[in-house]
Parts: sequence; C-alpha cells; structure tokens
Amino acid sequence: MQIIITKNYEELSKEAAKIVRTRILEKPNLVLGLATGSTPLGLYQALIKMHQQENLDFREARTFNLDEYVGLAPDHPQSYNYYMRENLFKHINIKKENVFIPKGIAENIEEFCQQYEYGIKKRGGIDLQILGIGRDGHIGFNEPGTSFTSRTHIVNLDSVTIEDNARFFNNESEVPRRAITMGIGTIMEAKECLMLVSGAYKTEIIARALQGQITEKVPASVLQKHPNLTVILDEEAANRLEV
Ligand code: F6R
Repeated sequence: MQIIITKNYEELSKEAAKIVRTRILEKPNLVLGLATGSTPLGLYQALIKMHQQENLDFREARTFNLDEYVGLAPDHPQSYNYYMRENLFKHINIKKENVFIPKGIAENIEEFCQQYEYGIKKRGGIDLQILGIGRDGHIGFNEPGTSFTSRTHIVNLDSVTIEDNARFFNNESEVPRRAITMGIGTIMEAKECLMLVSGAYKTEIIARALQGQITEKVPASVLQKHPNLTVILDEEAANRLEV
C-alpha cells in the first residue's frame, strides 16, 4: 500500500489526476472505475483541465461507475448518472458508448447487476478504480456487514449514509433507501485502486480501515489485502494514521 499525504484538498486532487493521466497515457483504452460524492470532484476538475489544456485524450477510455440510487432516472439531478455528466463527461471527449453507470431504473435489477459484471469482464476488468470512503467505512455503497466476496448487487443504505448524503437532496426523506453497487469482490478485482480521503471527519474511519483489523464491519479494511493500492489523503484526514 502506498500512502500519499498532501497539504490540502487541492493538492490531493492534483496528485490523483496525475496518476490517472499517467495510466491513460500508458493505456489509452484504460478501463477506469469511477466514484461520485464530494471527494472526487477536484480530481474531475483537474482532469477536465488536462483535457482542455494538454489534450488529455479520453476517446478510447471506458468507464464503469461504482454505484447508483435505485429509482432515480439518469436525468434526475441527484442521480449519479447526472452527476457524472455534469462534473466530468460533458467536458471531455469520452464516447457515450464507453460510459457505464448502474441503471437505477432497471426493470430487473438482478439481471442488470449480472450484465454489469459481464460488461466489466468483457472489457478485460477494471484497470484503475477510484474510491472514496464513507464515514461508516463503506466503499461503493457496500455498507458494514457486506461480504468481501460480493458482486454487483442491490443494497439497503445505512442510516449514516442516508444522513451524510442528505446534503445533496432537499431533505433526508428524499434520499433513496436503496442503491445498486459494485460488490467488494468486484472492486477487489480491479488491477489498481486509488482511494481519496479528505477532511477531518474521515480521520477516524480511514485509520481503522487502513491500520485496524480487516473485518466486514469496516468494508474498506479489505483494501489492506489489495496488491496495488494507493491512498491519497489531505493532512486533516491523515491525522490519526501512523506513518
Ligand atoms: C460514491 C461512492 C461512495 C463515496 C463515499 C464518500 O460513488 O462510491 O462510497 O465514495 O460515500 O463520499 P464523499 O466523497 O461524498 O465523502
């Protein structure tokens, strides 16, 4: 595991973008796993800048998002589909047919989840997976107690996650209670994982995840077993890490 501690969020985002750029230059048809939420926004802005100023080319890149709320259509402003379009895709030259996001309004969710897994496999697996971490230790929407061998599936969100994500909605009651997420087994098969952690409120959970016991009670702790993991933290988030 490689741990990089940066002064602040801006530096964290730049460091992450440099890693993504290197991987795209090495492999233009990179299969990139993407996350949503607040943390990767700076990374996406930095990548947009690289595309605009250095012609960083996403034409051949393929992307698979970690998760999506059940019941939200792609044009719903709080859907992750909408988030990805607004915060990254519409500003770069990625092809629409190379973008994959779980379908929150799939008629048959179980069948959809299997197709999603197959879609990843068919493209050779995820080369680089971007991850954040929830305050309860979740990765993707794999909440505490999720099996380390889980594949893409439907989940009930924890009260902590609903509370944390209410900031994106008018109020907590509007936050969908269910989501589709890549499983922990799916995430662990990515050839490389890049986790981004920012802010004082992540201090405790990231220390438990990276330096505590490996347990399904802290889903992110499984990453200690990943053969190619880089974690970039800002100083605030790294406060309790022993380095
Ligand atoms: C979102 C995702 C989640 C977030 C996590 C942290 O696609 O996979 O696991 O990474 O909830 O969210 P933020 O970055 O908003 O603190």
